[in-house]
Amino acid sequence: MISNICALNRTAIILLAFGSFSVSCQNAEQLAFTQYRVQGERLYQQHCSNCHQPKGKGLARLYPPVAPSDYLRNNFEKIICGMKFGMEGEIIVNGVMYNQRMPGVAALTDMEVAQIATYIYFLDSGNKKRITTTEVSAILGRCP
Ligand code: HEC
Repeated sequence: MISNICALNRTAIILLAFGSFSVSCQNAEQLAFTQYRVQGERLYQQHCSNCHQPKGKGLARLYPPVAPSDYLRNNFEKIICGMKFGMEGEIIVNGVMYNQRMPGVAALTDMEVAQIATYIYFLDSGNKKRITTTEVSAILGRCP
């Protein structure tokens, strides 16, 4: 009987500990998301807003919008690669055709690409999930 109570208590303690652990993990991730979003916005204004405009609305038929953009939502890897290595060829964004070369920003680090990506996906659809540097490094390693 006594050993049964102990076993129960142990389970309760483990559950409690696990509960608070996952809560603090969630907060840390929320904080990391906010840091990436804020840094990403700064980098976007520096490297991308000349063409895509400060709020991501694009410019006429020359530069496509990034917010909102159906192309953005459906071509995650192409966009990660494009930021660093450039992009060219015909693309359709929200039903409008664009075909002009976009220069890449070769100097961006993997983390900076992840921060800009976190920001533009947030800007496009309110996505509150951080795009991690690990994820981005893996994609950049296999760009065409
Ligand atoms: C010199 C102007 C210029 C700059 C600077 C630039 N882009 Fe682009 N971007 C373009 C053009 C032009 C296209 C269309 C490419 C094509 O026709 O294939 C494009 C396409 C895109 C697309 C895919 C289409 C869409 O709108 O969803 C994304 C996303 C994008 N750019 C994001 C960025 C980001 C992020 C940066 C900054 C790191 C950036 N661009 C910097 C001109 C630019």
